[in-house]
Formats: sequence, C-alpha cells, structure tokens
Amino acid sequence: MPCYSKAFPNRQERVREHRLPAAGRMEEKMQVRHDRMPATRVVRLGMILGLALVTLPVLAQSLSGRWAATGRTLDNGETEKAILELKQDGNKLTGKLTSLGFATEVTGDVKGSHFEIFGSWHEKRPFLTGELENGHLVGTIFGKRNWVARPATAADVIEMPAYIAPPALKDIPSNGLAKTPPMGWNSWNLFAGKVDDATVRSITDAMVSSGMRDAGYVYVNIDDTWEGVRDAQGNLQTNHKFPDMKALADYVHSKGLKLGIYSSPGPRTCAGYPASYGHEEQDAKMFASWGIDYLKYDWCSAAMIYKNEDLQPVYQKMGEALESTGRPIVFSLCEYGLGHVEKWGPEVGGNLWRTTDDIRDEWTSMMFNIHEQAFTAPYAGPGHWNDPDMLEIGNGHMTDTEYRTHMSLWALTAAPLLAGNDIRNMSAATKAILMNKDVIAVDQDPLGKQASPAKRGNLETWIKPLANGDVAVGVVNTGDGPEQATVNADELHLDGPVTHARDLWKHADVKFKKGAYTASVPSHGILMLRVSAK
Ligand code: GLA
Repeated sequence: MPCYSKAFPNRQERVREHRLPAAGRMEEKMQVRHDRMPATRVVRLGMILGLALVTLPVLAQSLSGRWAATGRTLDNGETEKAILELKQDGNKLTGKLTSLGFATEVTGDVKGSHFEIFGSWHEKRPFLTGELENGHLVGTIFGKRNWVARPATAADVIEMPAYIAPPALKDIPSNGLAKTPPMGWNSWNLFAGKVDDATVRSITDAMVSSGMRDAGYVYVNIDDTWEGVRDAQGNLQTNHKFPDMKALADYVHSKGLKLGIYSSPGPRTCAGYPASYGHEEQDAKMFASWGIDYLKYDWCSAAMIYKNEDLQPVYQKMGEALESTGRPIVFSLCEYGLGHVEKWGPEVGGNLWRTTDDIRDEWTSMMFNIHEQAFTAPYAGPGHWNDPDMLEIGNGHMTDTEYRTHMSLWALTAAPLLAGNDIRNMSAATKAILMNKDVIAVDQDPLGKQASPAKRGNLETWIKPLANGDVAVGVVNTGDGPEQATVNADELHLDGPVTHARDLWKHADVKFKKGAYTASVPSHGILMLRVSAK
C-alpha cells in the first residue's frame, strides 16, 4: 500500500505547464496519415540504420530533431498536424509534442531503430511506438492507427494568433444555477469524435425511456468535434455532423432535457477544432441563440498562448460573455485543476471546475482523480463544485463493484454526475448504479459538503454531513482481498446516538451495535451507509 502522503500527493506543488489529454482519447486527437516508404527501401535502410546504431554510437542521436506529421481530415474539412521535437540521449528520449489543440511534454525509449514514446498522462503505456525507417518515424498510435512523421522544415509550424491581453479582474455575479452538482450525460468518454445529431437525439430519447431524466440527469452535453469553421462574419459554423444546432436544442428541450456544448478559450479545442479565442462574446451569443444551457470551456490550446497567470481573467472573459447573453448557462471550467481554480472559480461565474486530468475507465485512474479532488473539499458548495471528471460507469473496463465505488465516491465528494456511457444500451447493473436514488440523494444534498478521506491500511473512509443532520459514509477497500470495514458512530459527528442506518447499495437497514457497524467489503468495493441520529 502506498503511504498516506504518496496516496495523496501535494497537487499544489506540482507544476503542469500544459494540458494532459486522456490516453484513451489521445487517438482522436492525433490521427495522422499512414504514408509508408516503399517496403524494400524501408527494410534495407532499416537494416542499415539498425546495424549503424549498434556499431556507431553517433547515429544513436538519429531521433533527435523536429518531426512533422500531417494528420487526417477533421470533420470540418481541415487537416490535422503535429510537430514532435525530440532529443535523444543514449537510449532515452525527451521532447515535446505540439498539435493544433495542445502541447505536451513527452519521454521515450529507443532500442535500435525501435522507439516508444510516452506522454505524462500514462507512464507505462506508450502512445507512439514505431521504427525509424528511411529517415521517417513510422509507427502506430496506441498500437492502432498508423502514424508517420518526416523531418520537419522551417515551414512546419503550428501557427498561433497574436496574444490578446485578457481583461482586468472583476467579480462576475453568480448565475444562480447548479445549486446542487450538475447531472447529465456527456459524449466524450465513450463516443469521442463519433458523435453527431442522430446520436444526440437517440441518447436524448434514451435519457427519458431509461429513467435517467427522472433520476435527475438533465443535461445532454455535446463535447468536442461538433465545430465547423468560421464564416466571413466570424460566426463559428457547425460541421456536417450537426446540421442544425438550434433544431437539436429544440428537440432536447421538448423532452424536458437541457443541451450542453463545448469550446476552448484557445484558438483550437483539444481535438484541433476552431475555438473561442478572440470570439468569446460572439460565440456566447450564438450559443444562447441556439438555446444552449451548459458550456464546458476547455483550456487546451490556450496553454500555447496564455500564461498560467492568465487563467482567471481568461475564464472571466467567457463568464462575462455568458452573463451578458441573459440566458442561464451553466459554466463548466475545464482546466485540469491548474492555477488553484477552486479558489477563483466562482469569481469568474464558474459553476464547476475540473480538479484533475482526464479520467480513464480504469480503477487506478478513477481513484487517482478522486484523491486529487480531496484537496479542494473546502471550496465545494451550492452553485460551485469541484469536478474530478465525468463518469465511466458502464463503459466496460471496470467491474460493477468498482463502478459502485466510482458512483459512491462521486456522490460523497459532491461531484457533478455526468454519465459517459451509452445510455441506449445499459445493463441492469449499470442502470442500478447510475440510478441508485439514495446515492444520488447524497450527491444532490443541498448542504453541498464534500467528503475527505481518512485512511487506515487498505480502507479509506469518506464522511459527508447532510442537510437534515444525517451523515453519509463510505468505506472503500483499496486492497486486493476482502476486508472487514467498521464504521464508528463517534467518527460521524452526529447530534446523538445512531437511531437509523441504511446500506445504500444493499437497500437494507443495518444495526449499529455498541456504536459501531462492521461488514465485509470486497476488494475495490465500498460499504456506503446513510446514518441518522434523529
Ligand atoms: C480534454 C478534456 C476532455 C474532453 C477532450 C475533448 O481532454 O479534458 O474531457 O473534453 O479534451 O477533446
């Protein structure tokens, strides 16, 4: 087991210059054309290079330099591109990857002509692997999509518009929204770039027929890749996947749901599409005219123009633009916890802000994100929430036991509940997890307190006081085998002795004996109780 300080590292001391995209979705952001060299020459040169690397150490430098990859065509007809700057030292690589939408530091290993390149978002899983072949880097992204980069020329640059100084700081009045953590669905975690009007309509229908809407999930949020290009007046068009955003909003509204959209304060979104830089007011007005109810505003390429000190005024600029539309629009800041966002989020009109890098559908990623969220506990409250990223429940790479823990921890930390799965096809277990009304009630409790963890061995206890004097408590088993978890009444700071306690996953009342309740919790499972002293 990691010791307490390792399990909860000091986020404030960590410097993250650039955004760290989700490994799982990295492919969407870096799809580049396969442009192989003729096979015989490749093999011959590969052999020569391989031999040379063994015999002539000087050629071990051969991956050093700037490499240019031309991407595939985006949904708006533009072409992706990326520049990889590498420095090889022995068999180690360091460098930087710059794409249209983001820049990030990379590291890597070289063995002969073979290379593996890692992003800071996943130390163990390389996102680029391949060979140096005939002076080109030829490989795959996550072992799937082919990738080729050629030596870059001076003409290969990712152009950035001129710096626009952000406004002076001022307080944007609260929009009065999100009195409890927002609930809904977002397209990114499962669909990534494969989202379109028909998908959003069918998800909308399923939100109603599955009972999700009635359980409280009201926002249907379109994430990245809806964008087209700007017209002569600077109005951002939708791309072919979303022929009429206003009509889509009308449809979503007709079902008693709300529509969310996505943009970035930079010139490009993380997936490389045009974003709101220099068009903040114009875009806010357009979103309002479409009937948009929620904006996720993702830092992405803004990191390539602005300094971290600019975060607050840059988010304020959009906060003010949204406010001046007069339409109630939930403002979701997505900047991965940079710049102590929890301290100024409400001042820029923010209703929620990401506290972490992107979640992946894996136990370690989910637990890492919720531990990062722990630092921000004092800053959660009605109207403004810490966001450890969207839910992965039902996406298939965790067990249902782990998904129950995921749901419980998001509820105990008053996190936004944005489902990220295919609502049209949910197993009975996924439905039971996402629509557990007792657990949702803990998340949506009007007091808006965020639990923090206390750790004993493999067990972590998260305690959340509730508006009516009850207390919600979750004991997570982070170990590899079952554990006996005990909840002690005196740790709950109730007003008196326990009068009633309910297991929120077993849907059964339980009895405290001598001020304690003990139950067996499976590996990666949770015991979650609501305890009352009235
Ligand atoms: C970033 C965000 C994700 C998603 C993608 C879209 O990685 O953190 O939640 O919005 O961008 O490109």
